[in-house]
Amino acid sequence: MGMKEKLAELRQQGLEAIEQSQDLDKINQARVKWLGKKGPLTQILRGMGKLSPEERPAVGKYANDVRNDLQEALQRRKQEMEKELLNAKLMAETVDVTLPGAPVAQGQPHVIQQIIDQLIDLFVGMGYEVATGPEVEEEVYNFEKLNLPKDHPARDMQDTFYITPQILMRTQTSPMQARMMEKHDFSKGPLKMISPGKVYRRDTDDATHSHQFHQLEGLVVGEHVTMADLRGTLQEVGRNLFGDQLNVRLRPSYFPFTEPSVEADVTCFNCLGKGCDICKGTGWIECLGAGMVHPNVLKMSGVDPEKYSGFAFGLGPDRFAMLKYGVTDIRDFYLNDMRFLTQFDEKG
Ligand code: DAH
Repeated sequence: MGMKEKLAELRQQGLEAIEQSQDLDKINQARVKWLGKKGPLTQILRGMGKLSPEERPAVGKYANDVRNDLQEALQRRKQEMEKELLNAKLMAETVDVTLPGAPVAQGQPHVIQQIIDQLIDLFVGMGYEVATGPEVEEEVYNFEKLNLPKDHPARDMQDTFYITPQILMRTQTSPMQARMMEKHDFSKGPLKMISPGKVYRRDTDDATHSHQFHQLEGLVVGEHVTMADLRGTLQEVGRNLFGDQLNVRLRPSYFPFTEPSVEADVTCFNCLGKGCDICKGTGWIECLGAGMVHPNVLKMSGVDPEKYSGFAFGLGPDRFAMLKYGVTDIRDFYLNDMRFLTQFDEKG
């Protein structure tokens, strides 16, 4: 067989082998086999010296063509292979972007926080500032400055968690009255503030008592603040929370830090005054404690009772939430049971 025929055959076999290589390893092996130093093509090229000078250029060119053809075929096959591999990988990893995703549950404020937020909106709209105070409070602020001196019998009702004899978990948000009055510059205008937050009492927990609950304190102190202002304000709160047709009535009561003191009832939102289960047949729902700030309290916070007067109130967002949604056990608010809590979806 002449050189050319040998080369032609070699090209034929080489191209076939390359074409049949099914992975990158095989393609590499084919390269070594057909184009490597020990491969047939190299052998042939090495034998060129034995050819006659006339034959040499033509055979040499032909051998080069064969080498180029094989190199090209290898290159092409390699690219094909890489493309096939990539396609296979893409197929295996296909994601159907049109499939619905796993829904992420959207959170919402706790139902009591919703009530507090609604009250904050209302009061901020009426020009009140919102102040939060320490839950670990000084006995002086929690009792003393609120006209509840040591051994005052009203302290018993708020028997509480003491940390030291002078430091306790606050039993009410009322200490914020003293804290805010002390800081306020009355020459610049009246003080109007609300203070929502948690309070603590050593109560035995039952359906209507929890050792931790919420209060929202309100205080307005300035010149010529009267009980009529208190009444109008409370009426606004009742209407905002429970609806337009509701009225407010004040009953005499007692709190050490107010004089006179009242308890406020709002027309029952359920029966509008006719009498039903929710209002226990009275047509009224007890809502909050309030009164005109006691002169002693003003004095102890450095406010002149001859010049300034004020009203204060304290309401229970837990109780409002129970009333609004017909919740019968206050403890449900604090159990973190999502089945209970998600019922009060603001959007729903
Ligand atoms: N601090 C009182 C309590 O915990 C509630 C209260 C009553 C607050 C009358 C007031 C008020 O500001 O004027 O029972």
